[in-house]
Amino acid sequence: MSKKENDKFIITVKSNTKDLFAFTKLIPNRKKRFQKASSEPITSDPMNELARKLHPRRQYLIVSEIKDETKTTKTIKLIPDPDSNTKELAYFRAGQYLSLKVKVNGISITRPYSVSSSPSEALNGFYEITIKKVEDGYLTKYIWDNWKINQKIISSEPNGFFYYESLRDKKEIVAIGGGSGITPFRSMAKEIAEGKLDIKKMTIIYGSSEEDDIIFYDELKELESKNPEKIKVVHVLSCEEVSLEGCEKGFINADIIKKYTDVNNSTFFICGPQIMYEFLDKEIEKLNLPLKRVRKEILGQIKDIVNYPGFPQDFAGKTFNIKVHVGNAIKEIPALATEPVLVAMERAGLTPPSKCRSGECGFCRSRLISGEIYIIPESDKRRAADKRFNFFHPCSSYPLSNLEIKVPRDA
Ligand code: FES
Repeated sequence: MSKKENDKFIITVKSNTKDLFAFTKLIPNRKKRFQKASSEPITSDPMNELARKLHPRRQYLIVSEIKDETKTTKTIKLIPDPDSNTKELAYFRAGQYLSLKVKVNGISITRPYSVSSSPSEALNGFYEITIKKVEDGYLTKYIWDNWKINQKIISSEPNGFFYYESLRDKKEIVAIGGGSGITPFRSMAKEIAEGKLDIKKMTIIYGSSEEDDIIFYDELKELESKNPEKIKVVHVLSCEEVSLEGCEKGFINADIIKKYTDVNNSTFFICGPQIMYEFLDKEIEKLNLPLKRVRKEILGQIKDIVNYPGFPQDFAGKTFNIKVHVGNAIKEIPALATEPVLVAMERAGLTPPSKCRSGECGFCRSRLISGEIYIIPESDKRRAADKRFNFFHPCSSYPLSNLEIKVPRDA
């Protein structure tokens, strides 16, 4: 408080005497604590322990159950490998993914898979991932044909930014999923039903080709009927003959979105195949949404890079040479212009680190010493300094000349 007296400002500080008294005791109390403390060195720090639990470098898991969801989709339950030092699973936020490391024909590769179970189920000792069989999908086909109960798997900690965040997102969310893109939304819906995700409402708009392709149909219906205020599910089928009652026909478009949602008071989460993103980009544009209210799950490796807008098509079919430095070792490998540099390295038996395979996590960050690359603009999430000093993400970059690169060792 201040007042003017005889042309001078008098400042009076009114304090809480209790606080002042505590302050005078601060140093003596600390001294007492030091004197009482053990002289033994601290062997484990609780904060470090917690950080290790939340962010383990690796999780050693086994397959404990495989359940058919549709003709082409399976849900795989993963639990800690009893023969390993993974005793409990890392917690995650609904919408995040695990990056699984799998050896296929002697080649070590990684793939991100969204967790389809809820975060509280991780605390109960399991994760679920739901995988759709893609005939030309290198890893999904391998998993379908080879994974059995007790299969051992190495997984990363849960990763990714595709989750609801109350500080950033609206209380109403619109979850637009296509095919197996429903998996992160199953996790979110379960968490809402458990009363652990504090949102007002989640409207799931789920596109499938046919009725038989709908994943989690009964489960979503049950979640909706038990939580009618909070969860709404709209099915959109693109086939000619539709017998499912109450569903929409065709593709998810702006009109369907407007019909079922409060567009101006919602945050949109989108997860599905690349072709759905391309179609939806135009539909979402019609809704005039600010960018911050549209969140897209990572793209993964682009299926048809030759026809990707902006890719230099005349490079299709060309092969280049990449000189790869890993630590003190140097290896020369061939690489197609139409495959990410990361894939070329994996094919050559190298094991560069990777998680998202979409340019987002920065785990594969490498240095381009010389040569030219094409970077998918949508996946170019590099920092300005990285761009300036020639760092790039091999998972989302394609060679357009012979290259020399320096790659980190696998973590
Ligand atoms: S693996 Fe995530 S940025 Fe390359």
